[in-house]
Amino acid sequence: MVKPLKSNVDKARHKLAKTSMIKILFICHGNICRSPMAEAILKDMARREHLDNRLVIASAATSTEEIWHGEGNPIYLPARSMLAEHGIGTPDNDLGCEEKRARQMTREDYRQFDFLIGMDRENLREMRRIAGGDPDGKICLLTDFTARGGEIADPWYTRDFEAAWRDIRDGCAGLMQVLKTRKLI
Ligand code: 4NP
Repeated sequence: MVKPLKSNVDKARHKLAKTSMIKILFICHGNICRSPMAEAILKDMARREHLDNRLVIASAATSTEEIWHGEGNPIYLPARSMLAEHGIGTPDNDLGCEEKRARQMTREDYRQFDFLIGMDRENLREMRRIAGGDPDGKICLLTDFTARGGEIADPWYTRDFEAAWRDIRDGCAGLMQVLKTRKLI
């Protein structure tokens, strides 16, 4: 079940109609657990529905926690394993998982991407700080696309990668539904 469209998505719609591809950036604190999982899951959904040529999908961190001397860390192994259990990030369906390295969100990302989607409210605060606000209404939570709402709990602390998988998958499914319903893809 998908909630009615968030006002942010509506606000952005007239601008999006003119662009050929919809660009989505998922954001979390470290960019090694939740946001790369969301990136891979949405890429997999798009591929299955032959909509991968309509979407640019990427992920980034609000912090530099997982970036050392300019080198980002790969996706955290338990997150990789969770994805692999569902056939995502495997050699025959890699979707960029092997190569993915953590990187920090920039103000330029705010200009480049159509939707910047955070995992929790702290992410939103940091995203707005990096972007210098949200004048175009592009920033929202992944759980805005679910009936449950709330936040995506950080499995780095909860160690519950199963719950992260389920909640991120539900958010991505809701997001796909909204993009299709609004004829953005
Ligand atoms: P993520 O999880 O934000 O979902 O990637 C975290 C990863 C690393 C850290 C915190 C959260 N850390 O503090 O290093």
